[in-house]
Amino acid sequence: MPKLGELNALDRAEFTRIVAPVFEHSPWVAARTESQRPFSSRERLHEALVATVRAASDEEKLCLIRAHPDLIGEGELTAASQTEQASAGLDHASSEEAKQFREYNRQYRERFGFPFVICARLNKKEAIARAFPVRLQNSREQEIEIALQEISKIADLRLRDLVE
Ligand code: GUN
Repeated sequence: MPKLGELNALDRAEFTRIVAPVFEHSPWVAARTESQRPFSSRERLHEALVATVRAASDEEKLCLIRAHPDLIGEGELTAASQTEQASAGLDHASSEEAKQFREYNRQYRERFGFPFVICARLNKKEAIARAFPVRLQNSREQEIEIALQEISKIADLRLRDLVE
């Protein structure tokens, strides 16, 4: 696990390679933040990464949201996503729960055009199942805002695992 000082001292490409996984399939966030080094704390690095996301175009923000897998979805998961889904208990869902999640995922994608993002490490599967119908009532603008806030929480926890 690198120390913050070590991250500050890496060359650009190495910094980007190591910090990239903090944002799901979106290395551009780390790449655009790299030039602001040195960071005085992990918290400042997190703030700068989140500010990069906020400064991105609407299309880029949507791309970032869309880079997240469905909870109990299909296909390969990144290592971080696998850990996150397991932490919520989603790797041990009953077939009824899995069916319910797939139906919510479908409805959510149909309504908003992007996947449902909630910080899985801060919520158990029961809480996530309760959040779906509530958030399905929101406007698209509200859901984009909530998704970006959840992505900031996901990034904070990934960064805590990454930086000593
Ligand atoms: N999709 C919805 N929530 C999450 C999460 O916490 N992590 C990842 N990787 N994907 C998600």
